[in-house]
Amino acid sequence: MHMIQELSHNSTVALKCPTAEAEAVMAAAAAEFRGQARLPRFAAPRRYELRLRPDLAACVFSGEASVAVDVSAPTRFLVLNAADLAVDRASIRFQGLAPAEVSVFEEDEILVLEFAGELPLGEGVLAMRFNGTLNDQMRGFYRSKYEYKGETKNMAVTQFESVDARRCFPCWDEPSFKAKFKLTLEVPSELVALSNMPIVNEKIAGPIKTVEYEESPVMSTYLVAIVVGLFDYIEGVTSEGNKVRVYTQVGKSNQGKFALDVGVKSLNLYKEFFDTPYPLPKLDMVAIPDFTNGAMENYGLVTYREIYLLFDEQSSSASTKQNVAITVAHELAHQWFGNLVTMEWWTHLWLNEGFATWMSYLAVDSFFPEWNIWTQFLDSTTSALKLDSLAESHPIEVEIHHASEIDSIFDSISYDKGASVIRMLQSYLGAERFQKALASYIKKYAYSNAKTEDLWAVLEEVSGEPVKNLMTTWTKKQGYPVIGVKLKGHDVELEQDQFLLDGSSDSGMWIVPITLGCNSHDMQKRFLLKHKFSDIKGINSQYDDQDRQNSGNFWIKLNIDETGFYRVKYDDELTTALRNALQMKKLSLMDKIGIVEDAHALSIAGKQTLSSLLHLLYACRDEDDFSVLSHINSVTSSVAKISIDATPELAGEIKQLFIKLLLPTAEKLGWDHKNSESHLDAMLRPVLLVGLVHLGHDKTISEGVRRFQIFFDDRNTSLLPPDTRKAAYLSVMHNVSSTNRSGYDALLKIYRESTEVEERLNVLGILSSCQDKDIVLESLNFIFTDEVRNQDAYLVLRSVIIDARETAWSWLKENWDRIMKTFAASAILSDYVKSIVTLFTSKEKEAEISQFFATRTKPGFKRALKQSLENVRISARWVDGIRGEAELAQTVHDLLIKL
Ligand code: BES
Ligand code: ZN
Repeated sequence: MHMIQELSHNSTVALKCPTAEAEAVMAAAAAEFRGQARLPRFAAPRRYELRLRPDLAACVFSGEASVAVDVSAPTRFLVLNAADLAVDRASIRFQGLAPAEVSVFEEDEILVLEFAGELPLGEGVLAMRFNGTLNDQMRGFYRSKYEYKGETKNMAVTQFESVDARRCFPCWDEPSFKAKFKLTLEVPSELVALSNMPIVNEKIAGPIKTVEYEESPVMSTYLVAIVVGLFDYIEGVTSEGNKVRVYTQVGKSNQGKFALDVGVKSLNLYKEFFDTPYPLPKLDMVAIPDFTNGAMENYGLVTYREIYLLFDEQSSSASTKQNVAITVAHELAHQWFGNLVTMEWWTHLWLNEGFATWMSYLAVDSFFPEWNIWTQFLDSTTSALKLDSLAESHPIEVEIHHASEIDSIFDSISYDKGASVIRMLQSYLGAERFQKALASYIKKYAYSNAKTEDLWAVLEEVSGEPVKNLMTTWTKKQGYPVIGVKLKGHDVELEQDQFLLDGSSDSGMWIVPITLGCNSHDMQKRFLLKHKFSDIKGINSQYDDQDRQNSGNFWIKLNIDETGFYRVKYDDELTTALRNALQMKKLSLMDKIGIVEDAHALSIAGKQTLSSLLHLLYACRDEDDFSVLSHINSVTSSVAKISIDATPELAGEIKQLFIKLLLPTAEKLGWDHKNSESHLDAMLRPVLLVGLVHLGHDKTISEGVRRFQIFFDDRNTSLLPPDTRKAAYLSVMHNVSSTNRSGYDALLKIYRESTEVEERLNVLGILSSCQDKDIVLESLNFIFTDEVRNQDAYLVLRSVIIDARETAWSWLKENWDRIMKTFAASAILSDYVKSIVTLFTSKEKEAEISQFFATRTKPGFKRALKQSLENVRISARWVDGIRGEAELAQTVHDLLIKL
C-alpha cells in the first residue's frame, strides 16, 4: 500500500546518485515522452511471462513480469504503460542492467526507464515486480461480489479494453504491440481460475494453487483476461473439436444452455464464413456480476454481464433471449474481427465494433430466420442516423490524441454507423463477393493489425470496384446526406445535401449508392450518385396522368430496404403517393420503417410539418409487425413528449390520437402469452403495453395494476409472465405518490426478494418513472446504496420522466461530486448526463446546464455532454417550429375523428 501512495503523484526518482545537474538532464530527457498519443516504437514486446497473486480477501495483488523486448533502434530508453501500479524500482532489470532513472508520469500513464548507455539492439528481457489493488471500478484487475451459501464473496476479474491492462501489469498497452502471453496465477485452491488459454499445469500446495496456462499466440494487451472465483459450467464442442464452456454462478448452469448453443453455432458459422478455423484450443464464456459493458471479447475467455449471457425459460423474456443471441454472436465474431486481425490504432475501432455488430446480425439471422433480425437491424441504423445528424458527431475514423478520449468513441458511430455502412457496401457489391473479400482480408492480416484502407484495398482487389473512393466519403467524413427527390414531368431529379437536425444545411458530398423502386420492387434502378444533382430520365413515362392520380398506382421509393445510410425527402406529390402506397400495404417492412423515420427526422429539422408526420402515422394504423410498430412507438413517444412543451393545449389530444393508433393491435395481442405465438409477437406485446401506459391509457393502466396485485400475492401466477411485467410495474408507478406509496413499496419488496437478474433490472428500470418529487428523489438516492450495483444504476437515471426533470436535474447538480467519485467509468457518467440533460427543450435551460458543466467536464464524457446540449437546442427549435404550425390543431382533430 505504501508504494501505491508513493506513486500517486508524478515522481522522478534517481536510483543511483548522480549529481543534481545530471539528474536534471535525465529527467528532462524522460519528459520528452510525455503528452504523446502513442508510445515510441524503438522497442517492442515479443513475449510476456506474467505471474500474478491476487489476494481476494485484502483486495490487492502482486506480480512479476519478464518481457522479451526487441530493441530495433539505438536508444537509452524503454517507454511503456503503467497506471495505479506500484512498480518496485529496485527490481527493474533489462538484460541484468538496472536503469539509471525511473520516471512515472501519472497523467500519461507511462513509465520511462532510462539507462546509462544505449541498449544492445535485438531481443533482451525486461524484468520487474509490482503491486496493485483489486479495485472497485470495474476496470483493470478488479473485484466483483457474489453470494454463495448466504455469504458475500469476492471474485477477481479483468476488463482491459480499451486502455486498462496497464492497471494490472506494466506493458506496451496499444493494440499494435502484439505479443505472446504466458500466464501463471497463484490463487486459493478451491477457486476456478480462468485465462485466455487452457491450463497446462496445476500444483496445489495447501490453501494456494499455482496454475500455469499455455502460451498464447500473438495478441494485443487489451484482450488478455483473468477470472478467479467459484463457478459451475456446462460444455459443448465445435465441429473442429474446440471445447466451449459457459461458466455461471454455482447452481445456475442450466441458464447458460442457450448461450452455449448459440456460441457453438457461431464458431462453426464464422469458421465457414472466414474460411479460417477458430484460432485457440478452447473458448470460455463467463457471467460476471459486476461489469461495466455488456460483454467483452477477451481472446478465448469472453466475459458478460449476467443479463447478456443467461437465459431461463421460466423467468426470462423474449427480448432477453434475443439480446443473449446477438451478444454472443457479436463477441464471437470479434475472435476473428478484432482478436485475430486487430485494428492498428483506436482510430480504426469501427473495424472491430462495426463488423462485430454487422456479423452478429448475419449469424443470428441464419440461426433464427423467423426473428426477422435484419428488419430489427434498422434500430441500429436509426440510432446512428440520429447521432450523426448532430454537428457534434464525429467521423467513423476519428483521431485520438490521448488515451482518455478512447472510451468516448465506443458509441453509435463506431458500432451502428459502422455496421450500417458495411451493410450498404455489401448490398452494393453483392453478398458472395463481399464474403470472399472478407475471408481474404482475415487471412492476409491474421495475427497482425490492419487499418481501414487495408480492408478497402482487399475489397477492391477481389471485387474490381472502386471501393476506397466510395467508402472514404462514409468513414472519413462526419454526417450523411439527405437526397431530395422531385418529379419534373417524366423525369426525376435528385439532389444531395448534408442532413443536420438543427435545420442548417451544408453542401456535403458523398458517393451515394442509390437504389430506386418504382411501383413494385421488380422495377429497380441502382447507380452511384457522385455529384450534387442527378436526373433520371423517363421514369414516369409509362404512367399516364390517370395512373398518377389513381392513388396507390404510382409511387417512387428511394433506398430500397434502407440499405443506404441516408435520408430521403420527397416532394409533395411523391410524399402523398408514398403514403397511399404504404396504406395500401405495397411496401416492405423496412421501407415502411425508413419512411416513418425519415419523416420524423425531417419534422424535427423543420423540413416537413408535424402535420404531415401525423398523416403518415395515421396511414400506418393497421400495422401489426413488431419492428414497424417499435419504430412507430418511438416516434409517437417523441412527438408526445415534445408536444408537452410545444403545444400544451393539444398534448392531451395528441396522446389520444396515438393511443387510438396503438390500441387495436395491443388489444388483439392482449396481456396473456399464447403458446403458439411467434417470437416477434411476444416481443411486440410489451412494446405496445409500455407505450400505452406512457401515453396514460387508463384501461391498460388499471389492467396492469390488477395483474400486478395478483402477481404480488402469487409470484407464480401465469397472469404476469416476464414479457409483460415491466408494463404492469409502470402502471403501478403511474399511481404512486408520497401519500400513496404502497405500490412503490411492493415493487421494492420484489426487488429485494428476487434472485432473478432480469426481474431486479425490471424494477430498477421503472423506479423513477413517477411524477412525485419525493419518490423520484428516493429512487435516485437508492443508487448510492449497497442494494444497487454500480453497473445497474443507469437504469434508474434513464427512466426519469419529463414531469420529474427539474427534480432530477437539481439532484444531479447537488450530487455531482459523489456521482463522479462513485461512478468513475466515463461511459457511465456519459449515460447519466445524457439521460437527464436531453429531457429539456429550452435555450435557457441549455445555457444553465452548460454553465454548470463549464468547470466539470472530463475528456471521457465531454463529447456526450456536447451532443446532449446540441439535442436540447434542436428540441428548442422544434418546439418553435411546432408553435408556428397553423394547421396542426385542425389535423389533430380531423385524424382523431377518422380513427
Ligand atoms: N469490445 C466491446 C466491449 C467494450 C465496450 C470494451 C466499450 C470497452 C469499451 C464488446 O465487444 C462490445 O461491443 N460489447 C457490447 C455488447 C454488444 C452486444 C454490442 C457492449 O458492451 O455494450
Ligand atoms: Zn464489440
